[in-house]
Amino acid sequence: MSSKEMYLLHHGLKLPKETHDLESLKFAQEFTFKNEDVVAVTYPKSGTIWMQEILPLVLNGGDLTLIHTVPNWDRAPWLEEKRLAEVVDQLKSPRALVSHFPYHLMPPSFHTSKAKVIYVMRNPKDIIVSSYYFHQMAGFLEDPGTFDEFMDKFLEGRVLFGKWTDHVKSWRHTELGDRIMYITYEEMCQDLPAALRRISEFLGRHLSEESIQKIAEHCSFKNMKANNMSNFSLVPKKYMDPDKSSFFRKGVVGDWKNHFSSESLAKFTSVLRKELGSESVSLPWSLD
Ligand code: A3P
Repeated sequence: MSSKEMYLLHHGLKLPKETHDLESLKFAQEFTFKNEDVVAVTYPKSGTIWMQEILPLVLNGGDLTLIHTVPNWDRAPWLEEKRLAEVVDQLKSPRALVSHFPYHLMPPSFHTSKAKVIYVMRNPKDIIVSSYYFHQMAGFLEDPGTFDEFMDKFLEGRVLFGKWTDHVKSWRHTELGDRIMYITYEEMCQDLPAALRRISEFLGRHLSEESIQKIAEHCSFKNMKANNMSNFSLVPKKYMDPDKSSFFRKGVVGDWKNHFSSESLAKFTSVLRKELGSESVSLPWSLD
C-alpha cells in the first residue's frame, strides 16, 4: 500500500487511516470536554498505553475489574480515533482519554473546560527505536526501511503526528496553568509508585499506599504484557504482528545505545539542538 493510501493529512500531520478518518477528526473537534475529564497526551511511543492503563485505575481508586474485562482502547479511548464515537456514551465520569494531538489541535471545549492533562515525555532517541520496531509489526503503517532511513524521516517530521520537537514545544507553552502535569517515561521506569503518588495528588485522588502499590503491580511491564486486555493480542495479526515485534517490546530506558551509530547520534543531536534552541536546557535528558 502506498503512503497516500495508508495515511491522511490533518493540519499537515500524518495519521493512519486505519484508526482515523475525517469523521473521527470532526468528532474530536466537536467533542465536549467535561471539567472532571483527564487526558493523557503523548507523542507516539512515549508511554501512551502505560498511562492509558494507569489513569482509569487512579481515577477509580484502584478497582481492577475494568482492566481484566475491557480492552485498554475502550477504557481510555483516543480523542482523535474512530473508536471514540462508539464508546463515548459508556464512559463513566471522571472520564480518562488519551491523545497524540499537539496543543493547537485540541478542541474548543478543552480550552473552556477545567479538564486536566498529563503530558508524558520520553527521550526521543528511545522513541525512534520504539517507533522503528512498531512500524515493523504494525500492518497499518509504512515499512520503516533501515534504521538510518527511519531516523531521517523522524527528524524531518515525515512520521505519525509530525516532528517530536514541535509536539513537545506545543505542550510546553500552554495557558493551562495547574491543569497540566508533566511526567517522563524515565521517571515512571525509575520509580513507578512515586510517579503514581504524583499523578494521584495531581488528580486530587490521595490514594492509600496500599492502592498505590496495587496499581504499580498491575501496571508493571510484565503484568501489562501478560494481560490480554492490555497487550493487543485481541487485535488481528494483520494489524499487529507479534511475530515481527511485540508491542511490549523492552520497556526500558536507553535502548537507543544499541541502535545509534556515532554518525547517527551526531546528526540527531545537531538537528534537535537547532530545533529546540534554548529549550534544550530544560529537557530532562542530555541530547548527546
Ligand atoms: P519499547 O518499544 O521501547 O519497549 P506507546 O504506548 O506510546 O506506543 O509507547 C510504547 C512503549 O512504551 C514501548 O516501548 C512499550 O514497551 C513501553 N511500555 C508500555 N507499557 C510499559 C510499562 N508498563 N513499563 C515500561 N514500558 C512500557
